[in-house]
Amino acid sequence: MTHAIRIHQHGNADVLRWEPIEVGEPGVGEVRLKQTACGLNFIDVYQRDGLYPVGDLPAVLGMEAAGVIEAVGEGVVGLAVGDRVAYPMCLGAYAEVRLIAADKLVTLPESVSEQQAAAIMLKGLTAHYLLFRSYPVQPGDAILVYAAAGGVGLLLSQWAKHLGASVIGCVGSEEKAELARANGCDEVIMYRSENIPQRVRELTDGEGVAAAYDSVGKATFMDSLDSLRPFGVMVSYGNASGPVEPFSPAILAPKGSLYVTRPTLATHIATRELLDEGANRLLGAVTDGLLHIQINQQYPLAEAAQAHRDLEARKTTGSTVLTV
Ligand SMILES: NC(=O)c1ccc[n+]([C@@H]2O[C@H](COP(=O)([O-])OP(=O)(O)OC[C@H]3O[C@@H](n4cnc5c(N)ncnc54)[C@H](OP(=O)(O)O)[C@@H]3O)[C@@H](O)[C@H]2O)c1
Repeated sequence: MTHAIRIHQHGNADVLRWEPIEVGEPGVGEVRLKQTACGLNFIDVYQRDGLYPVGDLPAVLGMEAAGVIEAVGEGVVGLAVGDRVAYPMCLGAYAEVRLIAADKLVTLPESVSEQQAAAIMLKGLTAHYLLFRSYPVQPGDAILVYAAAGGVGLLLSQWAKHLGASVIGCVGSEEKAELARANGCDEVIMYRSENIPQRVRELTDGEGVAAAYDSVGKATFMDSLDSLRPFGVMVSYGNASGPVEPFSPAILAPKGSLYVTRPTLATHIATRELLDEGANRLLGAVTDGLLHIQINQQYPLAEAAQAHRDLEARKTTGSTVLTV
């Protein structure tokens, strides 16, 4: 008998249940994966509480994991039993064993463990598209990174620094400030007490930042707009504090002819070519030592509810892995 974390209704972390499930044989184009590590992501919270849809209930939560292929369905090319693989953005990851479409999988190099892959596949591919596509960072750009000591935040800050950006990180505590500074942030703003636009102007000689990567949403959206330089890019990519409220595009004109984008990783890895491009760059950056993976919390998968509580209470830093 195999187990998974399922929800039967939306709600707080108490709705997460460790239950026996049936997993059959892989169909055409599928493999059966024995998972060893699952990634914890804030999207899991949105899906658990109902902000993002998950389809019919009960549903197995989780969007990211790594493991070893134990059976291969008809028509699968290039993958075999025993291969070590990982994936981002495929609902149903909080499970000991699962079926999954083979074309969603990335084969792991020897240099990357399954735990590490579960820590970076979704967060690192997000950092990749944010820095290379949403606003392609140029050497010398000043940029603003929210939740800079978080899972996406640590990878984004390290990578941006390597690309030559001057990184200003927003963090929620002194401990997080130290971690952010050690991972690419040149400056930090304690945004629970400091005025963000004012501090950004002070730190950029009055100019403002080229891009704001805002994962906090409702609480910081306007502050991000007010921190941008003329023609600056607002990348609103998350809602940790709640969804951004409706606004008129007319406000963007007097603030400096600003651009706003609201991207999702799903679009940025929608084709095999896009997934391969991002995964090759990400795994290459890890193998070359540009990105240092920080798994700062681990919980048994069966204790996913506690992991959710800690993530929502802003107690975690870096990546969190649920071990199977
Ligand atoms: N659009 C996409 O494609 C995409 C993909 C991946 C992730 N994301 C988004 O990126 C963000 C980071 O994800 P993650 O998994 O790496 O999480 P995380 O950053 O490790 O954790 C969330 C952090 O957000 C900050 N935060 C601010 N207000 C908060 C609030 N009211 N409640 C809880 N946390 C709050 C906290 O840091 P401080 O204490 O420093 O404020 C907290 O540690 C999330 O918003 C997520 O939805 C978006």
